[in-house]
Amino acid sequence: PASDPDLVERALKAKATLGDQVFVLGHHYQRDEVIQFADVTGDSFKLARDAAARPDAPYIVFCGVHFMAESADILTNDQQTVILPDLAAGCSMADMARIQQVEAAWDALADAGVADVTVPVTYMNSSADIKAFCGRNGGAVCTSSNADTALEWAFEQGEKVLFLPDQHLGRNTAVLKMGISLDECVVYDPHKPGGGLTREQLAAAKMILWRGHCSVHGRFTAASVDDVRARVPGVNVIVHPECRHDVVVKADLVGSTEYIIQTLETAEPGTSWAVGTELNLVQRLAKQHTDKNIVFLDKTVCYCATMNRIDLPHFVWALENLVAGHVVNPITVDADTEKYAKLALDRMLALPG
Ligand code: 13P
Ligand code: SF4
Repeated sequence: PASDPDLVERALKAKATLGDQVFVLGHHYQRDEVIQFADVTGDSFKLARDAAARPDAPYIVFCGVHFMAESADILTNDQQTVILPDLAAGCSMADMARIQQVEAAWDALADAGVADVTVPVTYMNSSADIKAFCGRNGGAVCTSSNADTALEWAFEQGEKVLFLPDQHLGRNTAVLKMGISLDECVVYDPHKPGGGLTREQLAAAKMILWRGHCSVHGRFTAASVDDVRARVPGVNVIVHPECRHDVVVKADLVGSTEYIIQTLETAEPGTSWAVGTELNLVQRLAKQHTDKNIVFLDKTVCYCATMNRIDLPHFVWALENLVAGHVVNPITVDADTEKYAKLALDRMLALPG
């Protein structure tokens, strides 16, 4: 639906009034009605890198989900305040790994005698305390655009990786980019004693994958790929690495949001593309590239409900409050967590490429 013109006008006015006081960051999965006001758009890696681009702006309005706003708070200076227009914009995947569960998993690895040779790597899509856990224990953060270089780095530091919380990104990267076999990947289930794994399984594994997934990307199936190939002759299938392994191996191309955008921008006119990622982005790409036939990989898959929580009414509410001198929904990470989470984020930002 078209944006409410009254709200668009109010957002424009508030943003103009705030001027350099506010820096608006927007993830590619945000609604059109919100992303139009972003000063910088990006995938989670680009937004982490660019969060510190305006150190003089006292307010950063983050149009994305909670873990991204936390990372922005960690990566910006103490004078800057990060605002998340709706605090209910979380991430179901990030919620699948709680710090107490991760600490229990680390104890289970220690009991099995493998913690010393294991490097914890967490996907950006995790809470700040889990990033801090990785920082404290010699590990790093990664995103979908640098998971391969992060794993290369991790395997230089140790023999095994505990990969949190997205089993699919971990498995896809290990198997497709690192030459690790499926047999060398095990899944640690935080709801089972010892993760449901024996000492022998832990000893033999190279990748210990946390049992987490994205509730959006996890819904694409191998049948979605077969169906779209039958429906659209000559279609190229491009998917995000949060998709299940059987989907990724059936697709033609796999990569982060930024990779998908670049691939479609440079694709030949007249080509057909089925895209397996969040619907707001796929619809935007289809609108922007009318010289190409761009379809959603599986029409039964929905928007990311939490990304969609940041809508124009919440965005206007956050901005108008700033104009009135009120900070609503600040996201702050405590100093100790911030110190170690920053260590893990900085290790990622220092990776080559
Ligand atoms: P990227 O931004 O790394 O492509 O990740 C997608 C995602 O699911 C963000 O929540
Ligand atoms: Fe989380 Fe998936 Fe939504 Fe990204 S798309 S915020 S990983 S639920």
